[in-house]
Order: sequence, then structure tokens, then C-alpha cells
Amino acid sequence: MSIVKSLEWRYATKKYDTSKPLSEEQYEDLLTAVQLSPSSYGLQPYRFITVSDPSKLEQISKAAFGQPQVTTASKVLVVAVETNINAETVKKYIDKAAIARNTERKNLEAREEFVNARLALLSPEQKIEWAEKQAFLAIGVLVSAAAEAGVDASPMEGFNPQQVDEILGLKEQNLKSTLLFALGYRSVEDEFATIPKVRKTKEELFLTV
Ligand SMILES: Cc1cc2nc3c(=O)[nH]c(=O)nc-3n(C[C@H](O)[C@H](O)[C@H](O)COP(=O)(O)O)c2cc1C
Repeated sequence: MSIVKSLEWRYATKKYDTSKPLSEEQYEDLLTAVQLSPSSYGLQPYRFITVSDPSKLEQISKAAFGQPQVTTASKVLVVAVETNINAETVKKYIDKAAIARNTERKNLEAREEFVNARLALLSPEQKIEWAEKQAFLAIGVLVSAAAEAGVDASPMEGFNPQQVDEILGLKEQNLKSTLLFALGYRSVEDEFATIPKVRKTKEELFLTV
């Protein structure tokens, strides 16, 4: 399937077929797509947390106003961003880069200083906003990768992030939830599957100057 055909096929799935789980191999592939997503400075300031504990899922379902995706999907993830982005974050990246690129760490120190100087311009709130932009790009990659694989998906902002943070103890881990994400296979009963898409026209969306 071309990417356009895949994106036409996909929709924000509301109800999943609970008898059709995602294979672990399929899920692993989708997680690899997230892992490969680009991010600013390469820092990937987020975590994708798979929630499999039924009692936590039940609590998250309540925090998501009972949206049926949470209770019917094969996999439910909480996407969280780091709230303590600092020189240590950059150091870890530079350490990794030195190994991955088989170079001495000192060759990357100018880069480290540059990234630290850029991040120092941001307030703590702006850093979180910046991290959320990076997370949303990875979420976009996941939406596309799922469509390409014929897997249904639902990004969800309709939830109470403070409650989800509490349910998963995210604050203590210097994390903050930003999105729920469900994956699985659509239920034949999901009426949203056949609703026509509403999109801006290309004239509205694409400008040339
Ligand atoms: C970031 C984001 C958050 C969303 N949150 C919800 C949500 O909480 N509940 C829901 O039913 N749909 C949610 N949606 C689905 C959108 O309403 C849907 O993607 C949009 O209307 C376009 O329809 P389509 O994805 O079916 O093509 C969300 C989509 C995105 C991208």
C-alpha cells in the first residue's frame, strides 16, 4: 500500500475488536518506528509507556472519561515528556553519540556546549513545550507506521493528565503525560470507520510565497 492509501485507510479508531490482539512482533516493529523518529538535537526527551496492568488501565480509562479505546485496544500507551531536561540529558546523549560514531568524546564537546547553550535559553515551561513538540513528532511517526502496517490507532488528548501522572507515579520520575495512544484492530461495530474524512483543501493548507 502507498503511504497515501494507508493514510486514507486509517482513522481515529474509537472501538477495537477485543478478540484480536496485536502480535508482539508487530508491536515491537511499531516501537522501533518510534525509536527511529527524529528529534531536535537527537535528545528524544520523552517516554512511551505501555500500560498492561489491568487495574491501572481501569483507572486510566476513568481519567480518559471512559473513552472506549482505552478498554478495548490491544495496547495502550501513555506518552510522557521529561520535565528535568538539563546538562545531564545532553551529557548522556553525547556519551552515546561518541560510542555510536566511534569518536572521542572531546570531538563532540563543542556540540555539547552548543546544545546546552540553546536549552539554557528556555524556561522550565518552555522546555516542556519543546519536549512535547518532539514527542508529537514521534507520535506522528507512530500513526503513520501503524497505518502502513494495517494496525489501527488512536491518539487521545481527551484525558486528565494530572490524574494519569498520579496513577503512574510520573512526577516522581520527572515525567509528565502528554497523550494516550491506543493500538489494535478496529471492531466491526465501530461506526467511525466509515465516516468520511474532513480535511482542509490543498489550496487552504498549502501556500506558496
Ligand atoms: C493529538 C490528537 C488527539 C486526539 N484526541 C482524541 C480523543 O481524545 N478522543 C477521540 O475520540 N479522538 C481524538 N483524536 C482524533 C481526532 O479527532 C481525529 O484524528 C480527527 O478528527 C481526524 O479524523 P481521522 O483521524 O479519523 O482521520 C485526536 C487526534 C489527535 C491527532
